[in-house]
Amino acid sequence: MRMKIYTILIICIFCLPVFSQNTPLEDSLHEALTDYRSAMLGTVKNQKKLVDLEERWRMVEQDDDALSFIVFNALHATKLYKLPFNYIKRVAKKSLPESQLPKSIKKSDIKILSDNFDLLSMAIGGYISGDPPYDLTSDTTLLQELQFINVQPGETVVDIGTGTGDHAFILSLVYPNNDFILNEVKPPLVKFLKNKLRSHEQLFFKNERSIKVVKGSKTNPQLGSKVDRIILRNTFHHFSKRHKMLSSIKESLSDDGTIIFIEPLESNTKSLDNCDMKLNYKTVIESVGKASLDIVEEKLVDEVLYLSCKKR
Ligand SMILES: C[S@@+](CC[C@H](N)C(=O)[O-])C[C@H]1O[C@@H](n2cnc3c(N)ncnc32)[C@H](O)[C@@H]1O
Repeated sequence: MRMKIYTILIICIFCLPVFSQNTPLEDSLHEALTDYRSAMLGTVKNQKKLVDLEERWRMVEQDDDALSFIVFNALHATKLYKLPFNYIKRVAKKSLPESQLPKSIKKSDIKILSDNFDLLSMAIGGYISGDPPYDLTSDTTLLQELQFINVQPGETVVDIGTGTGDHAFILSLVYPNNDFILNEVKPPLVKFLKNKLRSHEQLFFKNERSIKVVKGSKTNPQLGSKVDRIILRNTFHHFSKRHKMLSSIKESLSDDGTIIFIEPLESNTKSLDNCDMKLNYKTVIESVGKASLDIVEEKLVDEVLYLSCKKR
């Protein structure tokens, strides 16, 4: 009997590491997030000022969503679009009429936010906590997304509507040997992405590969040559010329290539950009069919539609 217990114990001890082992994708994602977080922490201008500001704002406004909303909009307005302080304050008051915070925002607050854009953007994206020591969060959404995107060795990956780029930059670190194209239509964002890539060259170009930022138009991503994997994350509903844009995206896809949609539906009320353009399930599926794309994989998680599509 005693012998049997020992045997079971020994088997358990040897099996433990096998059961608790991460997949290679989980390991690569963790490494990518760790590297990206340290690089963004390295850009922080004056952490004490930032912490003081966050504490002061929190005393006036306890609702985390309202706080994030103001930080998100103030950051984008000032850093990317260079909008004047009074405009930012007016919009904050209009968007959150119940909150006392818009009234107490100072010009110097906006400067502190803007100086720490990269770190705050990572926190707003949910990759790190918003408070020191800005630890990585345990959210598994990103892992689910990467499993669905399923980048293959040797593929050229295009992210259309990259925005401020955290998602695409992290993805490019998970796949350090793949070529990437970050595609945006808005000139201030194109400039921002190019600058960020340039200021972190050592991080993104450890291996020999290419990451390019390409400015597209409203109807064409202007990619130049065919690519293998195109990602539209939280972007499809932002296209002003949806059908034209999707058919030119399809033209940029290699015959065997894949288009991935990660699309929050109109029933999803979580996203911070407060976007009222979101689409319903039927409209997205109809648009995909109209562009002669076949859906090879589909899932719906928390009102976010995941589609993997091929050319018909
Ligand atoms: C909500 S952001 C998504 C950012 C990023 N993909 C993410 O998931 O965090 C949508 C982006 O799509 C961009 N966009 C809209 N129309 C576009 C077009 N025709 N070509 C490229 N980007 C476009 C917008 O400028 C905006 O930055």
